[in-house]
Amino acid sequence: MEILCITLIICLCVVVIYKQQFYKSLYQDFTDGISIISENKIIDCNDTLVKLFGYDNKKEFLSVHPLNLTPAFQPDNSLSCDKAQEMMDIVEKTGKCKFDWVFLDKEQNEKWIEIDILKLKKTFFSKQKFCMVWRDIDLRVSVQKKLENFNSNLEDIVHQEIKKNKEKEKQLVKQSKLAQLGEMISMIAHQWRQPLAIISSSVIDLQMKMVLQKNDKKLLSYVEKHLSDTESCIASLTETIDDFRNFYKPIKSMQQTDLSLIVTKAYAMIESYFKTCNIEILFDDKSSKKITAFENELIQVCLNILQNSRENFLVKEIEKSQIIISTTDIEDGVSLSICDNGGGVTHGIIDKIFDPYFSTKYEKNGTGLGLYMCLKIVKEHHNGTITAANTKDGICFSILLPN
Ligand SMILES: Nc1ncnc2c1ncn2[C@@H]1O[C@H](COP(=O)(O)OP(=O)(O)OP(=O)(O)O)[C@@H](O)[C@H]1O
Ligand SMILES: [Mg+2]
Repeated sequence: MEILCITLIICLCVVVIYKQQFYKSLYQDFTDGISIISENKIIDCNDTLVKLFGYDNKKEFLSVHPLNLTPAFQPDNSLSCDKAQEMMDIVEKTGKCKFDWVFLDKEQNEKWIEIDILKLKKTFFSKQKFCMVWRDIDLRVSVQKKLENFNSNLEDIVHQEIKKNKEKEKQLVKQSKLAQLGEMISMIAHQWRQPLAIISSSVIDLQMKMVLQKNDKKLLSYVEKHLSDTESCIASLTETIDDFRNFYKPIKSMQQTDLSLIVTKAYAMIESYFKTCNIEILFDDKSSKKITAFENELIQVCLNILQNSRENFLVKEIEKSQIIISTTDIEDGVSLSICDNGGGVTHGIIDKIFDPYFSTKYEKNGTGLGLYMCLKIVKEHHNGTITAANTKDGICFSILLPN
């Protein structure tokens, strides 16, 4: 019986020692630092924690006052001791707390550590103890910081690129407007040629009549007629200038308009210019829907397309040059097509004609911005589409606009 009891006690002792060894090695070799805290002091810790702070041994580490393990201020500028007290209050209240903290290792290097504090069960005789788990997150935080820096730099780079692109875009618009200005002046000159010729011949005629038929009654009525003709010519000159001035007015808001009005206004500006080149323009107007648009911009689109046709007719010396402009209402908008019989574009370049700076008129200083501006105006400013296709005898531009 005695032997049995002794054997049992020995077995129990072996089990207890085994368990103790097991938990001790678990505590010592754990990948995170572990410490026991009592009365705001570290009373025990594992080797991992000693190594984490770069101390030589546990005795040396435990002799350091906890306040010397942390800088006076945390990165959020809070006082370390105040913040530590805040965390301990949470542990007291809720039994646990998790937070990130900046510590100082033996060499006084800052180190980010994730802290997990657990309030241990208090026994009758012992003081309140806490178990604290320390996880090294220095690498994680530095990678995170680098990533944040990279992201904010990236944002800066993207912003700068967007700004640059907007500037470029502005330059393009300016360049295209300048190129158009010369064209506009030629158009005005053509529009003015006829009325100016009428005025000057009237004046010469009147001078002659006054010399030959002094005090004649017939002369008076003759003068009256000539004056009224001259007046209407001057009105037409003024109208031309007004048309061009309105076209160049910067209009910032959209207005209610329709395709008929847009085409008519564009036509009024080029009529004489095109007539002198014997270009026939036919207008098949079947659209009646109102649209909300930047009228002047759409006039500019028509002018750019018409001007291209005119230039192409001249280069290819087309005899019966003709442009047909047609408008129709479609399900959710309006459609405008401008087709010419100028032979179209060379095979293989149709996909490029809307690209900025694409031009086959380099020797004539073509900027290659005309159709690019059309694309921008239709697509970006009016949410529409513009396409071009070669037909059997020329090219057809087709514009769809929502209403
Ligand atoms: N009606 C057309 N017939 C034949 N080719 C055309 C026609 N319209 C455009 N193109 C071709 O498309 C190219 C691009 O036209 P776009 O208006 O963008 O520039 P550009 O006319 O060359 O230059 P800019 O408009 O500055 O004078 C032209 O160079 C031409 O090759
Ligand atoms: Mg052009």
